[in-house]
Amino acid sequence: MKVVHTIEELRDQLRGQLRVAFVPTMGNLHQAHLSLMKLARQHGDPVVASIFVNRLQFGPNEDFDRYPRTLADDIEKLERERDVYVLFAPNEREMYPEPQNFQIQPPPDLGGILEGEFRPGFFGGVSTVVMKLFSCVQPSVAVFGKKDYQQLMVVRNMCRQFQLPVNILAHETVRDADGLALSSRNMYLQPAERAEAPRLFATLKKVQAAIEAGDADAQALESQAAEDLSAHGWQVDYVSLRRQRDLLRPQAGEIQAGEPLVVLAAAKLGATRLIDNLEICKK
Ligand code: PAJ
Repeated sequence: MKVVHTIEELRDQLRGQLRVAFVPTMGNLHQAHLSLMKLARQHGDPVVASIFVNRLQFGPNEDFDRYPRTLADDIEKLERERDVYVLFAPNEREMYPEPQNFQIQPPPDLGGILEGEFRPGFFGGVSTVVMKLFSCVQPSVAVFGKKDYQQLMVVRNMCRQFQLPVNILAHETVRDADGLALSSRNMYLQPAERAEAPRLFATLKKVQAAIEAGDADAQALESQAAEDLSAHGWQVDYVSLRRQRDLLRPQAGEIQAGEPLVVLAAAKLGATRLIDNLEICKK
């Protein structure tokens, strides 16, 4: 694997390549990231990964400074898996040599809801860096995880609207055996919190089961789910049932008619904020 830190070196490595498959990350790689690389390998050649902790997508009170930076370990993991041909690991000056005054602004009805409501500016920061990374790597395929469902959607819509020639592939959420979605932020959890954390996914599964059994009262299901979590010490930002296609709230009739849905949640356990989601397709 070639590790490059500058855009110039990256372009040298990729000159003439027309089937690049790309996996952007912020590093501190775990099994989910490595699975994304495997999927990339099946859809393009060469596979390029990036590791860049993007300041633009962190709010002033978020964990930018303490976000884990583990480049040497990450390189070792990627070397072992042998899926990635070039790792692009730029520093801040390489990606933002001057203040980023041009920025991508996602539409409020997509970028301002759910995560966007609780993390103002987050999806603008994500879209801007993804656009820049795409312009550096020029991939034909890029892989994103469903764990960050709304991010996947924002990136897809951005590509469509800007007519970027990048095919966005979605990877299923990778979970620990007890259901907790893998995340770099899981390492912040205290042992008791780690034991409690699987409840987030379990709660989403209850909503899924209720809808599959014919319940169409989204509001009641959402409140019940949020109350369950609160009763176990969670501080809930949202539990929300949405349509898969545009993340808008479904009407009861749509739920009954089997509109593809997704239930998304964000909640804090102690100081750690976790997100998860589950697709619901009523047969
Ligand atoms: P990061 O959190 O490092 O995630 C990189 C990619 O891995 C994202 O597409 C994310 O959805 C995916 N991922 C993380 N955990 C996952 C899991 N348990 N199952 C499936 N996929 C998972 O997301 C970002 O970085 C950044 O916002 C980025 C897109 C790199 C822009 O800075």
